Amino acid sequence: MDGVRPDFTIAQDWQAYTEEEHAIWRLLFERQQKLLAQRACREYLDGLSRLGVAAGGIPDFRRLSDILERATGWRIVAVPGLVPDEIFFAHLARRRFPSTCFIRRRDQLDYLQEPDVFHDIYGHVPMLMNPVFADYMQAYGEGGLKALRLGHLPRLARLYWYTVEFGLIATPDGLRIYGSGILSSAGESVYCLDDPRPQRLRFDLKRVMRTRYRIDDFQQTYFVIASFEELFAATRPDFTPIYRELADQPDLDPAARLPEDRAFPPPPLRGGRKKIGPQLIAAQV
Ligand code: PHE
Ligand code: FE
Repeated sequence: MDGVRPDFTIAQDWQAYTEEEHAIWRLLFERQQKLLAQRACREYLDGLSRLGVAAGGIPDFRRLSDILERATGWRIVAVPGLVPDEIFFAHLARRRFPSTCFIRRRDQLDYLQEPDVFHDIYGHVPMLMNPVFADYMQAYGEGGLKALRLGHLPRLARLYWYTVEFGLIATPDGLRIYGSGILSSAGESVYCLDDPRPQRLRFDLKRVMRTRYRIDDFQQTYFVIASFEELFAATRPDFTPIYRELADQPDLDPAARLPEDRAFPPPPLRGGRKKIGPQLIAAQV
């Protein structure tokens, strides 16, 4: 492709965005702001406001990277779309977040099969302002390169899916969202917390690694962490023996329920959101 460098990065060409493209960003942004004020975790909302990713329009990656780099040493690099796994992991391992540049069309506001700039920037980048999450993402990149070498990428990819993309966190005010795939989706940001259908299970590394996922519908299972420190502590050890152990165990259906799963109670069928107080969480966690 024209202008694509060997590491798959391209220039964002911010000047080239049209008024319509900025308008779509603003539409998506304002819609999510209303939904996420009470649903996203504090770390995400903090990161977003400190980035000043403004409702103004599609942000200039360089401006954003300068703020991000000062906070946690990460930068955003522009890519044309999904890049080969090895390239993706190598970028993460060097604290570079590959982001697409294009924005969805007006008739695709609710559903898109591939990541666009709204998902990548609004969904992912604010979490990279958090020091623990920033380290987790870099470690994931290094772990990705290793999993590739060992031939265990599918298991590691599930960890990314159920944390970075679709993770929930338990807080004293109830469950909150930190997964980017949810944060950039109007439908799923309501569904994951307010709908009684999906199950919300306490995070368990091996359980997550065994669980297949769906890419074409809302999730049937969400995994809930207690803190980002807990997530990073659980994933820090060498995965080599874990991969070996899991190789003999069957994969699990996205909606599977095991006797040892620790589930959070579903939200009430109708009406406002029930608050899950700290006592209740302590008992479940
Ligand atoms: N500890 C993991 C390994 O040995 C690497 C990793 C860290 C993966 C954090 C994901 C998140 O492969
Ligand atoms: Fe993503």
